[in-house]
Amino acid sequence: MSIWIHLREQVGKRRAPAKIDLILCSDTGNTAHYANQFIKGAERGGAEVTAHRFHRRNEFNPSLNGDALVVAFPVSGWKPPWPLLDWLSSSLPHGAGKPAFCLYTSAGGPENAGISIWVHLTVRGYRVCGRMWAAYPLNVPTLRIGPASLWKFLDRQVPIEEDLKAAEEAGEAFARGGRAGLPIVFWPSLLWLLGYLLDNRWINVFLYRNYVWKGRCNHCNRCIEHCPIERLRLVDGFPRPVGTCALCLGCINLCPKNAMHMACWTEYGNPYKPRWPGLVVKRKHRRRTDPDE
Ligand SMILES: Cc1cc2nc3c(=O)[nH]c(=O)nc-3n(C[C@H](O)[C@H](O)[C@H](O)COP(=O)(O)O)c2cc1C
Repeated sequence: MSIWIHLREQVGKRRAPAKIDLILCSDTGNTAHYANQFIKGAERGGAEVTAHRFHRRNEFNPSLNGDALVVAFPVSGWKPPWPLLDWLSSSLPHGAGKPAFCLYTSAGGPENAGISIWVHLTVRGYRVCGRMWAAYPLNVPTLRIGPASLWKFLDRQVPIEEDLKAAEEAGEAFARGGRAGLPIVFWPSLLWLLGYLLDNRWINVFLYRNYVWKGRCNHCNRCIEHCPIERLRLVDGFPRPVGTCALCLGCINLCPKNAMHMACWTEYGNPYKPRWPGLVVKRKHRRRTDPDE
């Protein structure tokens, strides 16, 4: 499909979808928070929205019965997260021209992720009508070394209220069949390629090596239960990584004892505390040995 046909479709008229499927990938809850706003707008626009939470690729088997699709995700290395891309390219049913919308959160470098997801959806037969993104707090724990007050101050600078309003308006416009969100911007996207090169599953085997601070570990198993690619195994009572990392950083962010770390990336720093803990993926917790947790 040429760029021009795509742009015409973005601004052209289309039928209002009665049912929208929303695939939601959100590691620390930021994107879930943003997507809720879009859903609110879409429901006001008259559509019924079904959210399908993506966490483990091999357990994700949604029934996409709607007549439109929204994909919501966090930017990870200037592109959507690998497990989501894998699923989209191998398991997303063909769109047969259904309208689609891309919704994403990032710490500020998102354009390339929009192009990347547009390519994936277009190749799978969807008609991408627009996108919307917002800057949310950066959830990479490495950079949170230093006083918590500094990070709280920086997080407060994010203009989130306006972005939430824009997401709600985009949801309503998408549900009414109108022009919604921002067009996909085509510009020389070196960062897009860089994201694929640097956050690369083969490089990740070496670059992102988790380890556990044994003196702190309380054997609660949260990290193992959360890992979206089941990379962490229990060896002698402690979590040990095997193979490549999906970079959700859930094991680090969710550890109640700050015992999980990643060599070169987190070294006893302050892990990201989810702003909306209720929106983080919850998995059934099987074993708990620490009463103060
Ligand atoms: C491994 C990793 C890579 C990231 N890469 C980028 C990036 O390239 N550009 C950016 O703006 N934000 C980046 N971020 C920040 C997240 O996109 C941002 O915090 C997002 O809101 C997290 O959403 P979630 O809570 O739904 O997972 C990255 C975060 C992680 C953990």
